[in-house]
This record gives sequence, structure tokens and C-alpha cells, in this order.
Amino acid sequence: MSDFKTILDAAIQQLGGNEAVQKLLAVGASALSNYRQRGQLPAAKQAILEAELTQQGWYLDLEGLQLTPLNSGQQKRILLLITGGIAAYKALELARRLMDRGYQIRGVMSKSAMEFITPLSLAALTGEKVYSELFSLTDEAEMGHIRLARDADIVLVAPATANFLAKMAHGLADDLASTICLATDCPVMIAPAMNPIMWAHPATQANLETLKKRGVTLIAPEDGDTACGEIGTGRLAETAVIIAGIDRLLAPQKILSPLSGKSAAGLLGRHILITSGPTYEPIDPVRYIANHSSGKQGHALAEACAKAGAKVTLISGPVQIPDPEGVETIHVTTAQQMYDACITALPADCAICAAAVADWKVVNHGTQKIKKTKAGTPQLQLAENPDILASLSQHEARPALVIGFAAETENLNRNAKAKRERKKCDWIVANAVGGTGQDAVFGKDTNRVTVIDAQGHEDWQQTSKTQIAEKLITRIEAWFNER
Ligand code: C5P
Repeated sequence: MSDFKTILDAAIQQLGGNEAVQKLLAVGASALSNYRQRGQLPAAKQAILEAELTQQGWYLDLEGLQLTPLNSGQQKRILLLITGGIAAYKALELARRLMDRGYQIRGVMSKSAMEFITPLSLAALTGEKVYSELFSLTDEAEMGHIRLARDADIVLVAPATANFLAKMAHGLADDLASTICLATDCPVMIAPAMNPIMWAHPATQANLETLKKRGVTLIAPEDGDTACGEIGTGRLAETAVIIAGIDRLLAPQKILSPLSGKSAAGLLGRHILITSGPTYEPIDPVRYIANHSSGKQGHALAEACAKAGAKVTLISGPVQIPDPEGVETIHVTTAQQMYDACITALPADCAICAAAVADWKVVNHGTQKIKKTKAGTPQLQLAENPDILASLSQHEARPALVIGFAAETENLNRNAKAKRERKKCDWIVANAVGGTGQDAVFGKDTNRVTVIDAQGHEDWQQTSKTQIAEKLITRIEAWFNER
């Protein structure tokens, strides 16, 4: 879950980091850390931050804990259908907040919605005519109901009453709002609100199933007190939750960050911790135990996460490739250093352990170069390194999603599955190493992996490490979106 600190840090990152923001707000470093700790900004400073971000194409809502790109390019159009219920008044706030976000709202109200709020208030808010009549000569002359139904990027029904869900499910078209639902060819999202008994009724649930099967997106109602005094599920979802749903459907995957010009999609505000590359375990000041890992896959993951808007901490062993752009890279040498850096970097929303960590370290490593002597070969005494993946998976500040890699030379699936269970991580990305030619992995630009989770496994075809990274990030985004 995003908290105040995460959102504030994401905003600071978008504005160029702590120093840039201190300058903007004319405060010192201690003031920024005070804001973080207090979970609050003085109103005047908050206004400056919001204004600067808006200028740069971002919408900051510190109360609603959101930082999202404004729909600055092509404005997305939402046809907001308000049906009758006490929650109708919340649709006004919803419309306003969606507009703050850069969406264009056109309102349609059912007859019963007009018992709760007036078309005038919605029209005043949206600056657009509000439609309510199916058979209105003026409306048809201005904009036929079919065009109204199609001239949008999404139809959002909020609040959706039990009656309206039933009409939608059965294809009734006896007023403008229901006719639009039948005539539209754009995605439809519903945010129901009703009495808990009505919500739980098998008829409502069956209607809902029908609609879901038809591809309608549900923003489920929430638990709590309802207007009728009964407690249970039925309250209209929070405005922020509905907006997040709209963002998911409408914000294109490739929204460009005005700062970096990179795609800033679904990982905005999330902190992702990634390990990459090999570790070197010293034998003496000039020799070490190492492996063939190039860091290409871990670094590609870090870059893809940053492109998706995440704050990335990359903890890298010694590699020959440059630090990825837009990523905080911490350079380490040994497994112990990598472990320490990972623990220090917590909390994180997700950890991806792509490093090839040495399993053993040399306990009796020399402080001087070990010399060849007649006494015979030196006896290296090995001890196990900390297992970073297993430690993160069992840490009290465990990231919500922990992903490991498994480089196997035999029985790929069986070994990787066992590894997932042993290390208590969520997913394992397994690849067969040790191949030659086309099948080689170490140091190469391509990889072929199998992703194993609690549900089963997915085999991904051989492709570039960059594409594997992007595919995995899309899977991670989907995982977070589903929660
Ligand atoms: O046990 P094995 O090395 O095969 O496990 C591979 C996975 O565990 C990788 O995700 C690797 O980054 C992680 N690992 C770790 N710390 C270790 C050993 C492996 O994080 N000491």
C-alpha cells in the first residue's frame, strides 16, 4: 500500500530529488524529513509542490495518497452515468476529481438520480451540458443518443443502483442511461452502491456475474455503514479507488513522464529493490571466488522498473556494464555487503533477486597475497553466505512481492519449484544455464525463462533480456493492480 512517505518521495523524485525540492520550497533538509515523519506538509508548501507537479504534468493528491500523470496528451473522455441513490451526491466529487486529473467528463443522469442531485450542479462542475432525456428533440439535434454513447473513451456508471445493474444485465433500454449502455462500443465500468441486503441478493449477484462475463469492469462496493443505517457491503467505493480503476483502464501504458520522457505506468510510487551481477568473495587482496554473471538481466529489470515509474534501488555486484538510468545503484563486492545493502534499503514493495550470489565465502582469507610455499597448497576454509532472497522473504518488513531467479543446469522446473518453496519467495524465474552456443545465458543478451508461482508455471520463449525484463515488469504491475 502507498503511504504518505512513499507518495511524497515519489513526488520528490519526479521533481528532481531532495535538493531540487528543498530549493523549490525554500526549506532545508531537516524540514523535508520532518514532513516525512509528520506525514503532513504545511498547506502553503503543499500548494507549491502540487502546482509545480501540475506544471510538469503530474497530479499530486497527498490526502488521497496518489501521484499520477495528468492526461495531458489526448484528453480522455468519460461518459459518467449517475443513477439514483443517495450516493449520487458523491458523483459530483468524483467528477471534479476526475477533471482535476485531466479527464473530460460528460454527465448523464437517470430520473431517480435527479431526485438526489440536480443536472445544474453537474453541468456547472463539468462545464458541459448534462443529458437525461431519451426523447428530447433538443438533445437529439445537438447530439444523438447513439453518438453520445460512442463519443467517449469509457462509460462509467457511478453510482450504479441494483435496478440499473438489472437493466444492464438484461439489456433494457427504457431511458437514456440504459440505452447508452446498450448502444456503446466503449469499455464500461460500474461502481455499484446499494443496501447490503440488496447487494448480497442472488438476483443482484447473478446480474453482476452476467455483466462481468460481458467484460464490464466492476469497482466493488465497500464494507461499512450505509446511508440506510445497515452495516455491510454496499457503500460506493472511495472516490480514489474509482479513479484508480479509471486510470488503470484509460491511462495508456506508455504515458510519458514529462521529466524523463520515459513511460511511467503502473509502478509509480512503488519502491523496487533489485540485486544484480555476481559477488566476489576474496581469497586474498588479489584473488577472489566469482561466477560468470554479467548483470545484464538484473540491470535490464532495474531499467524497466524505472521506466514504469518505480523508485528503484539496484544493488549490484562487480559488473562491466553501466549503471541503468534513473536508478539508484549501490555497488557492492561481497555477498555480505549485498545482504547488508538490501536490508538497509527496506522497506520495499517488491524485491527481485537476480544476482548470482556466491554461496560461500572464504573465512580465512588472507590480508596479504598468499604465497606459494613448500608447505603445500593453502587450505581455504569456506562458510555459507547469508541467503539474501530467503532472508528478504522472511524479513519482518518483507516486500509484498519477492521474486527470485534460479539458474539451473538440470531438472529446471523441479529444482526451481523446490527453491521457491524453500526460500519462501513468491515467484521464481528459472533459466537453464550452462548451455553453449544459442543456449548460453551468462553474458549473453538473450535468455529463455520459466516463471513459477504458487499457481503453476509459464514458459516464456527465448528473447532478449530487455524483453524478458519488460514482460516481468508487466506481470508485476498486473499483480499489484489485482491487489
Ligand atoms: O540457491 P540459489 O543460488 O540457486 O538461488 C538463486 C536465487 O537466490 C537467486 O534469486 C539469487 O539471487 C538468490 N540468492 C540470494 N542469496 C544467496 C544465494 C542466492 O539472494 N546467498
